[in-house]
Amino acid sequence: MKMNAFVIGATGLTGCEVIRLLSAHPLIRKIYPISRESGISLEELHPNLTGIKKYTYTLEELKHIEPDVVFICLPSGESFDIAKNFINTKAIIIDLGADFRFDDPKLFEKVYKKKHKAKEIQYKFTYGYVEEFKKEIKCSQYIANPGCYVNAALCPLVPLIKANIINTDSIFISAINGTSGAGVNNQKELIHHNQFANMLAYSLNGHRHTDEIENIIFKTTMKKANISLVTSHGNFVRGIFMIQCMKLSSHVNCERNDILEYLKDYYKNNEFISIIGINKVSEGVEKNYGIYPQLSKVIGSNSCHISLDIVPETRELRVVSVIDNLVKGAAGTAIQNMNIIINVNEATGLTRYGI
Ligand SMILES: NC(=O)c1ccc[n+]([C@@H]2O[C@H](COP(=O)([O-])OP(=O)(O)OC[C@H]3O[C@@H](n4cnc5c(N)ncnc54)[C@H](OP(=O)(O)O)[C@@H]3O)[C@@H](O)[C@H]2O)c1
Repeated sequence: MKMNAFVIGATGLTGCEVIRLLSAHPLIRKIYPISRESGISLEELHPNLTGIKKYTYTLEELKHIEPDVVFICLPSGESFDIAKNFINTKAIIIDLGADFRFDDPKLFEKVYKKKHKAKEIQYKFTYGYVEEFKKEIKCSQYIANPGCYVNAALCPLVPLIKANIINTDSIFISAINGTSGAGVNNQKELIHHNQFANMLAYSLNGHRHTDEIENIIFKTTMKKANISLVTSHGNFVRGIFMIQCMKLSSHVNCERNDILEYLKDYYKNNEFISIIGINKVSEGVEKNYGIYPQLSKVIGSNSCHISLDIVPETRELRVVSVIDNLVKGAAGTAIQNMNIIINVNEATGLTRYGI
C-alpha cells in the first residue's frame, strides 16, 4: 500500500522537514506541497530539496484528489477549518500545531488566546506523544502532534515521575532552542547579523508549552506537577538543549547511575531514546564533558539523548535532554505517528543517528 500525502504549509520550516523525510519514506507514493500561493518552486525556496522538482499547489487546485494522509504545518490557530475539511474523508490527519492538543478546547483558548473553531471534532483527536500513547494512536486517525519543548521535557520526566524518583512540586526547566523554533517568518532579532553570537530570551512571562507539559504529566502519571519553563533562542538553527532541575523525592536514596539504569531499562525497546553517560562520573573539579548529551549529535535524527546528575548536598537532580526541534520535536514524531497508525515499523523513514 503506497500513500499520497498532502503537506499543508510546505513553504514553512516544519513543512519542508516533513517533505524531506517523506521523500525517503518507502510507503509514500506522491507528496503534494500545499501553500496559500500556487506555483512556488520548492527547490528555490528550500535549496536542501534541490532535485525534488515540485511546485506548490493551493488546496483549491487539489480538490479532486483524496489524500491518504494530511500533514498540517500551519501556525497555531490556523488548522481548524482545514482539519474540518478532511475529517470525514479516508485521510489520516496529523496537525503539527497546537489546535487539537488539549482535550478541553477552553484550555487551548486560555493558553493561545485564540478561539477554538472546531470544538465539535476535538474529541476525535489523539495526543500523539508516541512514548506513552502508542495504543491510543494505533486506533486513531487524527493526531495532535506534541510541541517541541514538550517532547524534550517529557521523555525524561514521565518515567522519573512514574517511579516516584522526583518531587513534582517545583520543576525548573531552562530550554534553548535554535532559531528555526520561531518558524520561517523570522523577526529582525533572529536574522543572522543580530542573532550570531547572541542569546535571546523570550516568553519569560509564561511559555505556552508549560500547560501542555503539566497536562500530559497528569494524564500519564496522575500527578500534578508545577513546571517553570524558561526559553531562549541560541546562536544555532536547529535543536533544543534542555536542562531540568528538581528535587529527589524524600524517600529516594539512589545514585546517579541507578537512575540512569532505570531510564535505560524504561526505554529498552525504544529505538529513539538513548541514555548517555552510564557508569561515568564527574569527579571534583575535573570537567568530564563526555557524560552528558551534546546538542549537535542529535541534529537530523529523530532521537532524544538524555543524561543527568545529582547534587548530593541539596538532593537536586539535574537532567539534560537534547532533540532536533524540527525532527523529534515536529516532523519526525509526525511521521512516527503515521507509521504507528498504518501499522508499519514506527521507525520507517526515520533515523536515530544524527549528522
Ligand atoms: N518550528 C518548530 O521548531 C516547530 C516545532 C514543533 C511544532 N511546530 C509547530 O508547527 C507549526 C508550523 O511551524 P513552522 O515553524 O513550520 O511555521 P512556519 O515556518 O512559520 O510556516 C508556517 C506556514 O504556514 C503557512 N500559513 C498559513 N496560514 C498562515 C498564517 N495565517 N500566517 C502565517 N503563515 C501561514 C505559511 O505558508 P504559505 O504562506 O505558503 O501558505 C507558512 O509558511 C506551528 O504550529 C508550530 O507551532 C513548530
